[in-house]
Amino acid sequence: AINMKGKDLISINDLSLEEIYQIFDLSKTLKEKQLTGEPHRLLEGKTLGMIFHKRSTRTRISFETGIYQLGGLGLYFGPADLQLGKSENIHDTAKVLSRYLNGIMIRTFSHDDVVELAKHADIPVINGLTDLLHPCQVLTDLFTILEKKRKLRGLKLAYIGDGNNMAHSLLHGCSKVGMDIAIASPSGYTPKKEIVDNSQKNADYMGSKIVITSDPVEAVKDADIVYTDVWASMGQEAEANERRKHFEKYQVNSELVKNAKDDYLFMHCLPAHRGDEVTDEVIDSANSVVFDEAENRLHVQKAIMALVM
Ligand code: CP
Ligand code: NVA
Repeated sequence: AINMKGKDLISINDLSLEEIYQIFDLSKTLKEKQLTGEPHRLLEGKTLGMIFHKRSTRTRISFETGIYQLGGLGLYFGPADLQLGKSENIHDTAKVLSRYLNGIMIRTFSHDDVVELAKHADIPVINGLTDLLHPCQVLTDLFTILEKKRKLRGLKLAYIGDGNNMAHSLLHGCSKVGMDIAIASPSGYTPKKEIVDNSQKNADYMGSKIVITSDPVEAVKDADIVYTDVWASMGQEAEANERRKHFEKYQVNSELVKNAKDDYLFMHCLPAHRGDEVTDEVIDSANSVVFDEAENRLHVQKAIMALVM
């Protein structure tokens, strides 16, 4: 086993392949224990602070129930709860929280703020989504694919839509494990070059492919997984109407998924804006695994907490 105690989880790109598979192995074990009712109190008496500057259904509930099931306690801090950002800076907050807690999970806007928090904290910091990345979601997605397809390497994932935090973490995740990834986005909404370049290095090492295109049909061609996300992320609500015009041709619908393999999986981090990026027909189809994906947030994040805290 690789000792991950004290490690932050800010980006999948910071993890080795061995660490990623260690997370998956423990996720599987903890999921089995959870489903059979076997106690697994690996974090007895430990506390996780959960800082949220954005809304959340899945992330909050899965971390909070997860730490409880591991024998610990989760403390929720909403946007108006801490002195942080109002009368206290990140450095001092990090130092103080480190004296009380055993770990911090944070969901906020600026990725740099999370990096700074982790730099000054003496306890592990887990990224629960920033404008740049959503690593816990993508580790869960890969675990879900592994459950369904029994392998990762050699599969092709197509991501249709905004070059956002999901696209970025999928680039990191797929390239780390040797999956091909094709991203179709309208111009002006492509993933960041730095993330694509770093992922290309991983892909070269693993012998897998990265394609960035504006053509959704090309991206979905023979895909094993078709993935999409909202066209306007949290914090971009004011741009929603403008964005809808650019993304019109990027809807995942029955016509588009005909280009994927017959046994393709449809995935979405949720929340879904049904009728925009995906039709009811696709998200409610037999190929869709979106609720297994949501459930697995619990099991994978319990593994992450148990390994780093
Ligand atoms: N997928 C996800 O992170 O969902 P929430 O925004 O509900 O946490
Ligand atoms: N891209 C979305 C993901 C939500 C889980 C957002 O940032 O709002």
